[in-house]
Amino acid sequence: MSLSGKRVLLGVSGGIAIYKTLELLSRLNRVGADTTVVMTRGAAEFVTPLAFQTMSRRHVYTDLFSDEDGFIPHIDLTREADLFLIAPATANVIAKMAQGLADDLLSSTALAAHCPVMVSPAMNVVMYQNPATQANLALLRERGIRVIEPESGWLACAEMGEGRMPEAAELFDVIEDFFTEKDLRGKRLLVTAGPTKERLDPVRFLTNDSSGKQGVAIAKRAKLRGADVCLVHGDVSVPLPKGIETRVVESTEDMLDALKQALPDADALIMAAAPADFKPVKRAEEKMKGLDDGRVRTFDVVDTPDILKSLSELVTDQIMIGFATETEHLMENAREKLTKKKLDYIVANDVTQQGAGFDVDTNIVTILGHEGERSYPKMSKEDVADRILDLLV
Ligand code: CTP
Repeated sequence: MSLSGKRVLLGVSGGIAIYKTLELLSRLNRVGADTTVVMTRGAAEFVTPLAFQTMSRRHVYTDLFSDEDGFIPHIDLTREADLFLIAPATANVIAKMAQGLADDLLSSTALAAHCPVMVSPAMNVVMYQNPATQANLALLRERGIRVIEPESGWLACAEMGEGRMPEAAELFDVIEDFFTEKDLRGKRLLVTAGPTKERLDPVRFLTNDSSGKQGVAIAKRAKLRGADVCLVHGDVSVPLPKGIETRVVESTEDMLDALKQALPDADALIMAAAPADFKPVKRAEEKMKGLDDGRVRTFDVVDTPDILKSLSELVTDQIMIGFATETEHLMENAREKLTKKKLDYIVANDVTQQGAGFDVDTNIVTILGHEGERSYPKMSKEDVADRILDLLV
């Protein structure tokens, strides 16, 4: 994960949005970021430093004049950070930063910052829209400070409007984006995710257990790495990444049609979807009624097209990557699919292994190419996504 080991200094000032900062800290710690917190006196009125200390497992800095072993917090904290994010940033902190005031630890640290700085404003809508605040924010932007736009909505002060700090998940995304090298910029990637469905009647269908998590993780990481992404997907159980083109499909044939259209413009296809392999020969126009005489009901099914095989005729110079989802003979089956489907690489996973396959957040894969193969230990689906995307760099 790209955030592992990244040093994030969190500046916290006094606003009710502070609870989101605690959640952000927890998310950052979960992915192995190295976090330190600086709080203002106002922030400590909302949440005690102990709460942040417990989360970051580090001393929380509040005092400009503390001096432990020659460590000068307002100078040294950002020397040891890769990013200084102030969230929530009150109108007062923003005004102090714009004017270069340094009358407490947080504002002094901002003035002496040795690393990139971001602020996430959080305040009442009138305070936010006040020309003074807007002018201060414009000054900060001009000086290269990234301002994370606040959201519009219901504010703690019982007013509607702009000024709400984004949720922790969104702040996390901004940080992740900041730390991700854009090594896929200029590439157009076609990614598929989730199962397809083959209808028996208007309310029933054949499908499979795919959650779409692996394909969505690939699309998300590809976007963060700068690629232009088109995600063709069936029903997925996770939110779709922002800022990518998406096409929803239902059946395997729908997915094939969408890919036929999109493939010519793509540099690569990563086929993480689990298309339904067969479909009923007949689809009932109306909802089928129950049989109440104990007769056995049978359905004839026929194979759907193999999407990758069908696309192989259209491939010009696209890199084609498939998956092999197996419950036995993993490597033999994967090797056979690599050749039969005319792929450049295949990602093999045994869905019977604990921590691999459908509906879990981790996967255990071996990536096979024509020149060799590499097995990876259990890792998050986002990390698997990065290993696959590395093949395209
Ligand atoms: N795939 C495809 N078209 C299908 C079924 C699968 O293009 N109708 C793709 C999958 O997205 C995956 C690869 O082919 O990238 C292998 O899928 P998998 O389910 O492992 O194998 P199948 O081709 O379905 O073969 P089998 O079910 O016989 O193992």
